[in-house]
Amino acid sequence: MNAPPFADWALVFLQGLYRAQLALARVLHMLGLTGDADGQAAWPWAHRIALETLRIDAGLTRQLAFALAATACAVVLACVALVSRKGRFASAIAALAVAWFAPWPPSSLWLSPAVPTSFQRDPAPFSVSNVVRGAHLYTQHCAACHGADGRGEGPLAATLAHWPPTFAGALLARRLDGELFWRVRHGTRDEHGVSTMPGFAATLGPQDTWAVLDYLKALSAGSGARAEGAWPVPVPLPTLDVRCGDAAPQSLEHWREGQRVRIVALAPGVAAPPEDPRWQTLLVTARGASMPPATGTRAANCVASTPDAWLAFATIAGLAPDALGGTQLLADRRGWLRARALPGSAGWSDADLLCRSDAAARPAAASATGDPLTALLLRVDTEPVRDVQAGLPH
Ligand code: HEC
Repeated sequence: MNAPPFADWALVFLQGLYRAQLALARVLHMLGLTGDADGQAAWPWAHRIALETLRIDAGLTRQLAFALAATACAVVLACVALVSRKGRFASAIAALAVAWFAPWPPSSLWLSPAVPTSFQRDPAPFSVSNVVRGAHLYTQHCAACHGADGRGEGPLAATLAHWPPTFAGALLARRLDGELFWRVRHGTRDEHGVSTMPGFAATLGPQDTWAVLDYLKALSAGSGARAEGAWPVPVPLPTLDVRCGDAAPQSLEHWREGQRVRIVALAPGVAAPPEDPRWQTLLVTARGASMPPATGTRAANCVASTPDAWLAFATIAGLAPDALGGTQLLADRRGWLRARALPGSAGWSDADLLCRSDAAARPAAASATGDPLTALLLRVDTEPVRDVQAGLPH
């Protein structure tokens, strides 16, 4: 993210505003005061706090925080006026004065239009099956305008009044997921109300729409890696089933038990690498390829058994499926993908780190040990990344 420096307290303040709106929507829904939108609590108002604008305007954020604090102070003084006998008059005057002078910025600056799904998130986890399902839907319905690589240069793009945006940057992370969802289902309009993108509510149900957005995130990562050599925003390791030897498949989360995971795309006929105590190794094979015989007792033997995991990882790595063999990816203990080693690379290095935290560009902690992989792993552990919504880490 290329956001300007922003005070820590201001970031916490914005995260608080996000959570407060989320909590408000849920409470109103629980009390039966608001209805559902596509199966989840609906946001009942036409506006919400413009978190993404505040995130890039430190001055406005400060002013809003100050106005809120002053208003809270006025409320406290008003309560004091109600309950106390002695200072009633003085407190009431003070409450009015503070409320009157609270420096609220114009609401057009810190409110933005909202939709009923603004604060919704995908109820299903980011998974290989959703990414693959989304990939098929994207090819069918979206690629003509947005382009197969998501950079907005599909065959129809030049015929449109508005050029489709590129997904290779941080665009998706600057939005709320629930608003992307709404735009895909109901289309977009320009400032004159002229339709710029058709809506797909008639063709894509809620689950399909979330699946397309999952694929867009994977595509955005891969296209960003190709264009800039880095993932524009953190991508989670997609959930899938893992089969170790002859045992029954189990879910990725259960299998990895909070460990780092190295994903190895095994080219046909290549032997599995040895297991390593620093991570769990997950082998991914192309569809239909059989596992090569284990070459030693310590060879890794856990394979992604969900179909098309190869395709999902190729998309995220930014490589054509044919070129994925020999690629390795590394996921941290929290389940975020962090680094990629291309086929034929001699070993891991700092340059393989495709996902850095906001506190990037710190000198690598352990470069002095001389082992670049250990340095990379330490860096990944000490600089955790977080999910991004409306430009804010969560
Ligand atoms: C007819 C061409 C066309 C098709 C088909 C199309 N889009 Fe778009 N899309 C656009 C244009 C043009 C924009 C830019 C709209 C704007 O900025 O007003 C856009 C914008 C978007 C955005 C960004 C919205 C935002 O918040 O800025 C997303 C996400 C998106 N499209 C997803 C999709 C998905 C998913 C599909 C397929 C289900 C799809 N689009 C199909 C033309 C298209």
